[in-house]
Amino acid sequence: MRLILLGPPGAGKGTQASSIVEKFAIPHISTGDIFRKNIKEGTDLGKKAKEYMDQGLLVPDELVVAIVEDRLQEQDCKNGFLLDGFPRTVKQAEALDQVLAKMNVAIDKTINVDVDKEMLVERAVGRRICKSCGATFHVKFNPPQKEGVCDKCGETLQQRADDTKETVSRRIEVYLNETQPLIDYYNKKQILVTIDGQQEISKVFKDILTALGA
Ligand code: AP5
Ligand code: MG
Ligand code: ZN
Repeated sequence: MRLILLGPPGAGKGTQASSIVEKFAIPHISTGDIFRKNIKEGTDLGKKAKEYMDQGLLVPDELVVAIVEDRLQEQDCKNGFLLDGFPRTVKQAEALDQVLAKMNVAIDKTINVDVDKEMLVERAVGRRICKSCGATFHVKFNPPQKEGVCDKCGETLQQRADDTKETVSRRIEVYLNETQPLIDYYNKKQILVTIDGQQEISKVFKDILTALGA
């Protein structure tokens, strides 16, 4: 299964991604996670990406495309993958099409997780992440058993640097201008499915499985 998860910041892409990759045993490729890992490790890529991410802006297409192209060549992507947060511009989508054509494969479905704008800020601002294992929680909608502590590994939970109200608003604006056109792009290819992302996390996942015929 080769999948793309599309949706605004805070729509629940990462949350659904962890269930989807478990179900289909495919790798989860999140460009945001790749950048955060590089920032944590202090690499050159991390330093470059941080300048944009802290402002809620997109990292330049050339940088992102090169990373995804490399990642897709790895052995674990042979039988499928889930792209989360990529592509994010029409240019990235066109570049991805070229990469996939070279590999002789195609995307099966693009899953568009739809959530009202008003809801997105609350979701992002209340998000808490585990930097150790990557688990995601929400103080109100998906709280950990013990406040501030990861259920999965016991590590202290943190807020993402770009989850302030101001930066989230900018990210939503960027999404509307740069990424939303991809809904049309994949709709024209007849591989788009839109899922109501404003339901319980488990119901959203159920709808995704139904849309994938699984
Ligand atoms: P990235 O990390 O991809 O962030 P994003 O797209 O802004 O999306 P988020 O990760 O914020 O939200 P999500 O949809 O994953 O939601 P989540 O599941 O966590 O990108 C960050 C930055 O990196 C970008 O701004 C850009 O600078 C750069 N970047 C990355 N990719 C790039 C690219 N391709 N090109 C250029 N630049 C790029 O859920 C959010 C919260 O809601 C959580 O607390 C969760 O518990 C809760 N929640 C989830 N589902 C539900 C539900 N159904 N009901 C209630 N609460 C829910
Ligand atoms: Mg995410
Ligand atoms: Zn953890």
